[in-house]
Amino acid sequence: MKPAPDAQSFAEYIFRQESKDQLRFITCGSVDDGKSTLIGRLLYDAALLYEDQLAALRQEVARQGHPSMEIDFANLVDGLEAELEQKITIDVAYRYFSTAKRKFIVADTPGHEQYTRNMATGASTADLAVILVDARKGLLTQTRRHSFIASLLGIRHVILAVNKIDLTDYSQEVFEAIASEYRIFAAALNFATVTPIPVSARFGDNITRRSDKLAWYDGPPLLDLLQSIEIASSKRDRPFRMPVQWVNRPHQDFRGFSGTIASGSVRPGDAVTVVPSGRTTTVSRIVTHDGDLPAAAAGQAVTLVLADEVDVSRGDLLSSPTERPALSDQFSANLIWMHEAPMIPGRSYLFKFGSKLVTGSITAIKHRVNVDTMEPGAARQFELNEIGLVNLAVGEQIAVDAYKDSRATGGFIVIDRLSNQTVGAGTINFPLRRSENIHWQAIDLDKKTRSQALGQRPFVLWFTGLSGAGKSTIANLVEKRLFSMNRHTYLLDGDNVRHGLNHDLGFTEADRVENIRRIGETAKLFVDAGLIVLCSFISPYRSERRMVRELLEPGEFVEVFVDAPLEIAERRDPKGLYRKARAGELQNFTGIDSPYEAPQAPEIHLAAGSRTPDELAQAVIDYLREHRHVS
Ligand code: ADX
Repeated sequence: MKPAPDAQSFAEYIFRQESKDQLRFITCGSVDDGKSTLIGRLLYDAALLYEDQLAALRQEVARQGHPSMEIDFANLVDGLEAELEQKITIDVAYRYFSTAKRKFIVADTPGHEQYTRNMATGASTADLAVILVDARKGLLTQTRRHSFIASLLGIRHVILAVNKIDLTDYSQEVFEAIASEYRIFAAALNFATVTPIPVSARFGDNITRRSDKLAWYDGPPLLDLLQSIEIASSKRDRPFRMPVQWVNRPHQDFRGFSGTIASGSVRPGDAVTVVPSGRTTTVSRIVTHDGDLPAAAAGQAVTLVLADEVDVSRGDLLSSPTERPALSDQFSANLIWMHEAPMIPGRSYLFKFGSKLVTGSITAIKHRVNVDTMEPGAARQFELNEIGLVNLAVGEQIAVDAYKDSRATGGFIVIDRLSNQTVGAGTINFPLRRSENIHWQAIDLDKKTRSQALGQRPFVLWFTGLSGAGKSTIANLVEKRLFSMNRHTYLLDGDNVRHGLNHDLGFTEADRVENIRRIGETAKLFVDAGLIVLCSFISPYRSERRMVRELLEPGEFVEVFVDAPLEIAERRDPKGLYRKARAGELQNFTGIDSPYEAPQAPEIHLAAGSRTPDELAQAVIDYLREHRHVS
């Protein structure tokens, strides 16, 4: 009988299996550059297709009755209906194939401008990018953007496939011009290698074989390049990191932590630290579907059982105790914006780091990069597909690495809080240490002491609605009533605050977000002082009203929707602003050419217009009494 392999040699076996040379690459380019055809041709010429795929292809050819009986290689690659019909790719498709030399995983990513998102998804795990250009069109903004995203997302090698070279009569001149323009552009992107190659995916020139028609080209064909390019250091050599995806507790006697190892390797007996709590323990078992393992490494999905009963929750990170990630709540990062609605600094978004979801915002745009020139420039917001350097702040301390050190724990995505859509992606450069050096100064007199002395419970009464709806009039009446009840109040009003604290702000979306952010912070200070704070602002965006609500403690934010239909507000037009806006003399006017998002569940809903201001003010007072905000 053969002796059972000892743990050590089994681990080595796993390592060797895992490391059977594998190249992950993406293809990107604009619509019609021929990405799908290129992959199809690659698989076909290298005889890497399965027979059933070939049969399907022949059928397709027969059905469409291609005049030349040429096989349309694009059909091969895309199972997606939409691609067949519209000849564009709309999602990331992963394909696996191998040659004698290497295993390949290719992410075919779409060329449509709005699908930068998919390109980024594919790029974040790839070693190499095949960037296609149409030889007749040369470099496009899209080519540059994809190259920039590839470099941000840690891709080290680029092959510039200058495709459709047949349509330029296999012109060396055309190829050289594109290649040298690209080299100049890519110099700023710090790729390890950039290799331009002339190809015709349609006719198979330079895909798996050199071509007589391209005799002037003395480099290797595409497949040779893909097979031979040296890929640097493996994720397994990095410090151990495993984000905890879920706590696996099927019954009393078992408690394990499941996730995919992001970097490094682990064996039973290894010490691990739970981040952020900082507790250290040892791994007692590595459990998988197929039984316990003697070792596991980056890329493997496992459940770790720990020796001690330490607190670990979903979103925590298990780390090497000696090489831990940084803990911070503020970071410098590169951000790629992927949504039609612009990114506005100060707006609250969800940020997902591994399995950890936190709220936060972009606190500053350092610059936006012009992808055609790679030059940084000033910006107040990011539009769809824009890329730049930002600072961000999240609501709690989280564990991250610099993206250049660890792609799996140094990247994040941004999610819209209302739609739950992914709207951006970013890479961490470094934690900002500023929060470390600013401590919360303990003050002996606190909110409770101050409000007790004033004999009241502080809160914010937030009036929102269109200009001319009557917010300020009602707020003013409510304040007078509270005052006569011996309540201590303060009224913050849009027009007034914009003369001082916010005199630098206008009415763009970004400025309104900042307006409300500052008012929210100010209101919070006044609440801390023990006051009842009345705020009267159009505050047109749900997301900022919610942000103010979340700044305060539960029950401290009372939203009053002063609901006047646009016709009524416009008819009143107390300051003549609607007239000006209609005449085109005033831009971004709420209700005319700037949106108002009505509250969905305000504490108080006032149907303005149907009652007098006095009655409406009284309704507010009644609510406050009833809900014991005031006695
Ligand atoms: S908010 O949208 O940022 O909340 P805020 O309440 O501070 O607005 O200010 C609104 C007031 O500014 C209006 O009552 C109006 O008097 C004045 N104003 C001037 N220009 C505009 C504009 N383009 N849109 C809305 N209000 C404007």
